[in-house]
Amino acid sequence: MSALLRMSNIHKSFAELTVLEDVSLALAPGEIISLLGPSGCGKSTLLRIAAGLDTHFHGAMERNPLLDFGTGSGIGVVFQEPRLMPWLSVAENIGFADGRRADERWVRQLLRDVGLEGRGDALPKQLSGGMAQRVAIARGLYGRPQVLLLDEPFSAVDAFTRMKLQDLVIKLAAQYEISVLLVTHDLDEAVYLSDRVIILGGRPSRIVAELDVPLAQPRDRRAAELALLKGEALTALYQQPR
Ligand SMILES: Nc1ncnc2c1ncn2[C@@H]1O[C@H](COP(=O)(O)OP(=O)(O)OP(=O)(O)O)[C@@H](O)[C@H]1O
Ligand SMILES: [Mg+2]
Repeated sequence: MSALLRMSNIHKSFAELTVLEDVSLALAPGEIISLLGPSGCGKSTLLRIAAGLDTHFHGAMERNPLLDFGTGSGIGVVFQEPRLMPWLSVAENIGFADGRRADERWVRQLLRDVGLEGRGDALPKQLSGGMAQRVAIARGLYGRPQVLLLDEPFSAVDAFTRMKLQDLVIKLAAQYEISVLLVTHDLDEAVYLSDRVIILGGRPSRIVAELDVPLAQPRDRRAAELALLKGEALTALYQQPR
């Protein structure tokens, strides 16, 4: 299997409610995929399945054996809210998975990477929303994942901070050769960041559209090609069966 993650014909129900129907998706090495769709369509549910946090579904979820080699934990996850432990310092939050045995040099490097050098001793309450989200990204990278799953990670910050965080994710994904699956509501974000945009829709949700974004990084947010692709994504979202 050349993909790092491959979900095939996923069907997912909660009791009587079928949320996902026949969803197939493969994440290639180095690829950034955005997952778009209306609220409640099952984006977080699909991300939890990709993360291995939910195993109650029909269909197949394959992890490339490569993810289980080396020192890495394979998959890192960043949620919508930073979910930091308020009683732990920033550095302790980042190395939380290893507790007292955390690799301090790696934590310091990650602090530098996310622009929080020297802030390791701060407590979460001393951080702004954007800083807290950067700590959450650093924590997601701590296990040296090859795949990063992001569930609307920038939705609680202002537009300017959001753009900076988007650029940070693009930079870190390239630097550490990480593939990214990003759930978002934001069409601009989807076309700016990703190689492929996947749109879920219908009840239960299926994949209703898939757009390639064949533009090299770094991209110009004002590029006409991005506006065109955004138009196509909008059309796909509006044409959904309701
Ligand atoms: N643990 C659960 N038990 C029962 N129903 C659930 C559970 N988790 C999610 N659902 C239902 O599954 C559907 C999809 O939820 P999900 O959180 O995946 O949507 P979403 O696309 O991430 O929405 P949003 O954009 O608002 O975050 C919703 O109808 C939700 O009520
Ligand atoms: Mg969600």
